This record gives sequence, structure tokens and C-alpha cells, in this order.
Amino acid sequence: MDRRKFVKQSCTVCLAVSAGMVIGSLSSCATLPVYKTAVANKQVSVPTALFAQSNFQLIQPQGMYYNIGLRKEDDGTYTALLLRCTHADNQLSPAGNNGFTCNLHGSQFDKEGHVTHGPAERDLKKYPTQIISNQIIINLS
Ligand code: FES
Repeated sequence: MDRRKFVKQSCTVCLAVSAGMVIGSLSSCATLPVYKTAVANKQVSVPTALFAQSNFQLIQPQGMYYNIGLRKEDDGTYTALLLRCTHADNQLSPAGNNGFTCNLHGSQFDKEGHVTHGPAERDLKKYPTQIISNQIIINLS
């Protein structure tokens, strides 16, 4: 391979990799859609169809200040976490597939809601879930 052809191929590969990195970082910055739903009998109902494209969904129950992070696990069960920082009650933000972060003082939680970085010391509140007729029921009591 002559020098000119080598440089041309190398630059093409570099541009493709750079473009992929930019697109990847932009998509991780994108705001996740929030599914708004009513609360009835201290329960929230979420259609399983919401998880056709993704294994994570933000849920905003009517009348609640904090969102719930609802994740579909590999075994088909669902984990529902209250996204309220246990340090000083700030709303948490999803950190990709790696859990949640607090923008106020920097606490971090893994996707199971366990504290991985303080100042928070307590894990996130986890709500029990069950599936009934293609609906995920989150029990808020
Ligand atoms: S409120 Fe979240 S770290 Fe302080």
C-alpha cells in the first residue's frame, strides 16, 4: 500500500470513530421521556409495552414530586426506585445504564439503588412491583 492510500484510509477510519463518539455522547445527554400516570389505591400502573425499545423508563406519578426509575431486569422482573436523593431530597438523574446521580452534592447510586458515592449514606427507596395483564403495578405504600 502506498503512503497516500494509507493516509487516506487512516483518516477515514479516524473520522468514522470520531463521529461515532460524538453521536454516542450526544445520545447519552438526551433527556429521557417521562411517562405520566395517575395514582389509584396507592398504586401506579405502567404498560409493559413501554419497554419494547428500552429496559428503563422514568415514571411521574400524578401528585408526586419525585420520579420513579423503573427498570426491566434480565429475568423479566421490574425494579422501581424512588429518585429522591437520601442526602437532602434532591431529584436524581439517570446516569445512563449505570445508576443515578445527584447534581446537588454529587452522590451516586447504582442501578439497584445502592449508594456508591456520598455524601448520601442510605440506599434509595425501592417499591415492590408485580405484573398483571400486561401492566406493571408499582405499589407505593
Ligand atoms: S441532595 Fe443529593 S447529594 Fe446532597
